[in-house]
Amino acid sequence: MNQIATPETGAALGANPDYVLGSSDLEHRRLVLQARILRPSTEQFLRLGGLKPGMSVLDLGSGVGDVSMLAAAIVGPRGRVLGVDRDPVVTEKARRRVRNEGFDGNIDFAVTELDDFDSTERFDAVVGRFVLLYQKDPAATLRRFARLLRPGGILVFHEIDFTVQNPSWPPSPLWDDSYALLAKAFRANGTPPDFGRQLNRTFLDAGLPGPMVECHASVVVGGDSPMVPWLAYTLRSLEPALAMAGLSLPAGLVADDTLSDFLAKALTEQGGQALGALQYGAWTRMP
Ligand SMILES: C[S@@+](CC[C@H](N)C(=O)[O-])C[C@H]1O[C@@H](n2cnc3c(N)ncnc32)[C@H](O)[C@@H]1O
Repeated sequence: MNQIATPETGAALGANPDYVLGSSDLEHRRLVLQARILRPSTEQFLRLGGLKPGMSVLDLGSGVGDVSMLAAAIVGPRGRVLGVDRDPVVTEKARRRVRNEGFDGNIDFAVTELDDFDSTERFDAVVGRFVLLYQKDPAATLRRFARLLRPGGILVFHEIDFTVQNPSWPPSPLWDDSYALLAKAFRANGTPPDFGRQLNRTFLDAGLPGPMVECHASVVVGGDSPMVPWLAYTLRSLEPALAMAGLSLPAGLVADDTLSDFLAKALTEQGGQALGALQYGAWTRMP
């Protein structure tokens, strides 16, 4: 994988200005927790989409490396994965994790804007999780990366929709109002919180063969659910975006280590459950 036309820009890229959740240590820990929750869905989407041993894969918006490692586990030692992310800090963490997990041989990373990425190599698969929603023109991103596929190559994307109203029952206003803040912060930043349900349209707008689309939903039951700290971490990562939008946490909640316990209590004191975010997978194959 040495034919990448775009050189690593490394620390020169600095922050991750268009990514509403930022690039803090907390955000990187949040991504790892989120990856643990999402792994079964992402793995199923990748396998249904046709990811197989021996394939070469591009992972768009690779973050701290979880989708790259998942794809690498599927394609095995004869396959390989190139993760692409604009953020040098997150990518350094991804490299470290990949080494620690023993994937060293078949995963590489390139630090670049997706729009600036190019390669003379043709890949078997282009995949990504929670990355299209952040693009100014997601169909253009898909179209551009589809050109880097071999004939018969696949595209597999996992995206989210967290716009469900009143997800808890019996109703927990503290939980529901906190959850609703996620979508408000994303919308204020210009990032669609319901991008998952736009996947079919986006693939068609990219001129791709109509995709298969599947949706998974999880339910938060009990304070031990990993979705509780996920909501707390996500709200904490979103703090600057919330402040910029003039939004604040419901009264009584503070964006610190206590947040998770307060949210757990709010949901569990009445024996409640809450619908989690909807996880959409979409995949298609090039002619
Ligand atoms: C929500 S994180 C997802 C990380 C990983 N895919 C996962 O699911 O764990 C999105 C990542 O996409 C990267 N990203 C978003 N837009 C990008 C762009 N235009 N060019 C390069 N990287 C981008 C961000 O830097 C961030 O690391």
